[in-house]
Amino acid sequence: MFTHDIILIGGGGAGLRAAIAAAEQSSKLSIAVVSKVYPMRSHTVSAEGGTAAVMRDTDSLDLHAKDTIFGADFMADQDAVEVFIKEAPGELIQLEHWGCPWSRDADGRVSVRAFGGMSVDRTCFAADKTGFHMLHALFQTSQKYDNIARYDEFYVTSLLADDGKVRGVAAINIYNGRLEAIAGKAVILCTGGGGRIFPFTTNAAIKTGDGMAMAYRAGVPLKDMEFVQYHPTGLPGTGILITEGSRGEGGWLKNKDGYRYLQDYGLGPPTDTPVHRKMELGPRDILSRCHMQEYAKGRTFEGPYGHYVHLDLRHLGEEVINKKLPFVRELASKYVGIDPVYEPIPVRPVVHYMMGGVHTDMNGSAPLEGLYAAGETACVSINGANRLGSNSLTECLVFGARAGRAAVQYAAAQGAPSSQRLEALARDEQQRLDRQFLRKEGGKEKIAVIREEMQKAMEDGAGIYRKEEDMKRTCQLLRELRERFSNIAIEDRGDVFNTQLTAALELDFMLDVAEAVAHSALNRKESRGSHTRTDFPKRDDENFLKHTLAHRTPDGPRIDYLPVTITRWQPEERKY
Ligand code: FUM
Repeated sequence: MFTHDIILIGGGGAGLRAAIAAAEQSSKLSIAVVSKVYPMRSHTVSAEGGTAAVMRDTDSLDLHAKDTIFGADFMADQDAVEVFIKEAPGELIQLEHWGCPWSRDADGRVSVRAFGGMSVDRTCFAADKTGFHMLHALFQTSQKYDNIARYDEFYVTSLLADDGKVRGVAAINIYNGRLEAIAGKAVILCTGGGGRIFPFTTNAAIKTGDGMAMAYRAGVPLKDMEFVQYHPTGLPGTGILITEGSRGEGGWLKNKDGYRYLQDYGLGPPTDTPVHRKMELGPRDILSRCHMQEYAKGRTFEGPYGHYVHLDLRHLGEEVINKKLPFVRELASKYVGIDPVYEPIPVRPVVHYMMGGVHTDMNGSAPLEGLYAAGETACVSINGANRLGSNSLTECLVFGARAGRAAVQYAAAQGAPSSQRLEALARDEQQRLDRQFLRKEGGKEKIAVIREEMQKAMEDGAGIYRKEEDMKRTCQLLRELRERFSNIAIEDRGDVFNTQLTAALELDFMLDVAEAVAHSALNRKESRGSHTRTDFPKRDDENFLKHTLAHRTPDGPRIDYLPVTITRWQPEERKY
């Protein structure tokens, strides 16, 4: 058994920021970062366009808060948003000191660019590889601390809780197949979202909702899971993100007639240079719906991977594209054979982000003693029904740091977990894995088949537009898939890098997360932000200005609700 004070699950932006925050408190604390991949392979590395904070006199904290709350369609908790925007600038400056190479203006100031739904240019960036550079800065900083131990390529299968408190985790060392108990006084979940429950996503294959599902299984509710964000510009086929930064720099969306169609949806008029909150700088939920309406009107292109429109960057010129959007040029060239200097890029909406997650307070604390969550895994909530682009990297920093500090404070008052008890809990977990997977005989169901059916059910019932009968069918299908999953076939009984086993465990987690999404959506009988119901097309503040909480039961999710915290911004119609 390994023993630490604080355990981080996940080595991406939120996890490493939390680890550093904890390590800064005291060199005597022992901190573990447990990750199913080497930390630099975490999904944060693929974030592109930037990270938002108030860095200029032309901006203000109130404006950032207002944009975030409007973008969230008033589902964000406003006290959490106020904390977020206040701490954001300090986090970005801190990252600069840790070596993040922000792009700069000619006068030396950190550059800011426009992003969707923001009233002013507010998004700091490192060309269009912001996540890559931020993660590097965090990773190298984390290595300065001798009291941060890493467990790379350890797959956490379960939280170990006893007597109403989290006491550690059980994790498979993927290299040798051994299940290890890792004891800790506090555990912070930073495993990202679960976009892989959908068939077409910007999310890396590792984003399978592990942390969300582990908390859910431990009795913690998942909050606002119905709110799933589609990013309007993914590459057809792969789903690879083409950053919103390309529209921030002035890119245009055009339909098959070469027409800037967003002007037909109340976002006009079109201009040559970007106008905040208008046209291509509208928020993601609205732009994704506009795409679907263009498709319904027969005004999109048809390709081997379905409908798409054009993102036209040609008028920006080669110099701007090379300087500000080099990765977009590289991705478009490599994955669709298009050089955006000379041709428009085919794009379509793609699942990108989950606004919902583990129910936490502003310090990342979940309603299970000793458990914390941060980043996309958590729902604090600052993103409400629709996150504004570039708020999420900042969220990882602000709430990662807060969770790290809060966990240290909590751990200081806890005694060491009993090793005997922990080992007994880990033995139980080993028996579960043996029974369900490793020693199970005669399973007939294929992992890939169930995964594909789940993804299709989610797209059919919980996509951009939703309606009751489709959602009910999705809920039913997910129950059937859960049943069939109990008959899963594991042919690989090997110990070393048993990726069939990890794929089964990931699917197991995804089925839980998918059910929480589908049931939360079915029960929200209104349209708000990313949750758009054709049978309830209006926002209904009277009945649904409240957070959804999904609780796990053997018969599927049980749903209840929690009030939204309103401080200074009274709900009003969201207009752009
Ligand atoms: O388009 C983008 O670069 C994505 C940014 C984000 O989701 O925050």
